Amino acid sequence: MLPESIKQLLAEKQAKDSYRSRIVCRPHDSYVEVDGKHYVNFSGNDYLGLAVDTKLQQRWGEVQLNSGSTGSPLINGYHPSHQALEETICDWLGFESCLLFTSGFTANSSILKNLMTNKQHTIVQDKLNHASLLDGGKEANAKNIRFQHNNIAHLKKRLESVDNYKLIVTEGIFSMDGDHAPIDEVIAAKRQHDAGVMLDDAHGVGVFGKQGEGSLSLSNAKAADIDIFTATFGKAVGTSGAFVCGSQQLIEYLVNHARGYIYSTSFSPVLAEMTRIAIEKLRLEQWRRDKLRDNITYFKNILAELSFEMTGSDSAIQPIVVGDNKSTLLLASEMRKQGFWVTAIRPPTVPAHAGRIRITLTSLHSHQQIKAMLFALKESCERLKICQN
Ligand SMILES: Cc1ncc(COP(=O)(O)O)c(C=O)c1O
Repeated sequence: MLPESIKQLLAEKQAKDSYRSRIVCRPHDSYVEVDGKHYVNFSGNDYLGLAVDTKLQQRWGEVQLNSGSTGSPLINGYHPSHQALEETICDWLGFESCLLFTSGFTANSSILKNLMTNKQHTIVQDKLNHASLLDGGKEANAKNIRFQHNNIAHLKKRLESVDNYKLIVTEGIFSMDGDHAPIDEVIAAKRQHDAGVMLDDAHGVGVFGKQGEGSLSLSNAKAADIDIFTATFGKAVGTSGAFVCGSQQLIEYLVNHARGYIYSTSFSPVLAEMTRIAIEKLRLEQWRRDKLRDNITYFKNILAELSFEMTGSDSAIQPIVVGDNKSTLLLASEMRKQGFWVTAIRPPTVPAHAGRIRITLTSLHSHQQIKAMLFALKESCERLKICQN
């Protein structure tokens, strides 16, 4: 028997227009197929088009490896393909050591929960951090406090209020707003206050840097300035799973203490090898980043032409903030009717009254698709009298 309360909790979600349901989607190129219909896909995180790359798809059939890892990593599930992937990542990003996790959510939450175990210590998180970081912080034994989004003065105030060890936790690119953390200022605050820094660069890795090294390449910071660096393979790398990088000591600690690592079957060796191949490909294929950058610039130009409110984002994530849930859902549905797949993002994923259409751009989009989508968005907003600035 399930708790009686779930019926009411689901009914409350319905009443607030915040009920979620799944839709079977099949991405191809810049399109997504839903119920036999094709829509231009502006909602995925495959920023470089690697998840749907036909040459990479052929490699999946050619990789002669076990489909399953057969165990958790400390039993017998640590395969040579996992080790090779960790080595590739260290070579790519310049960190001393690396550890793979089955997902970014598990990596972030396990690291914070199992590293921050001292009640005298404090986690200081950006208010808009991803749910995996916020949950990890809540579940940790340490104090968990937040600072206003990207507000360095507020971060410093928070750090000043803490005597013992503190870990600043922020993101390279924020997942719902697409803006950057001011990494140089975060590092300066870390130095000034003898703190540690954890950076989740899920949306920066692959996208920024000469070889897709991520958000650090936009700053003066070096890998050695970041104590804990996490990212997922589920965005620009185009596969799934995640990793954490840092010192050898950090990785040894996590191997011994991170329960989400120790007690979980390692992901498939085929996935590890395909992820390694995808990383090697994205390091070499600068044209994917150039195409994405060109699409972002084009998108922003048309956005300005159509007098949409500009956000601070110059990444692949471009939110159009609508406000209430009903209007956000209505706008997404209207866009789908016109052949564009966009997602309505509602609280609690974003703050209250900040529902939005989260548009994501990729290297697969054409200018024509971007322009048509923005004109449809403008026309829908005007007709429905929503999100008008
Ligand atoms: C910033 C950030 N961190 C972590 C995650 C979780 O990664 P994964 O999808 O691999 O669990 C996401 C993905 O949604 C994210 O946006």
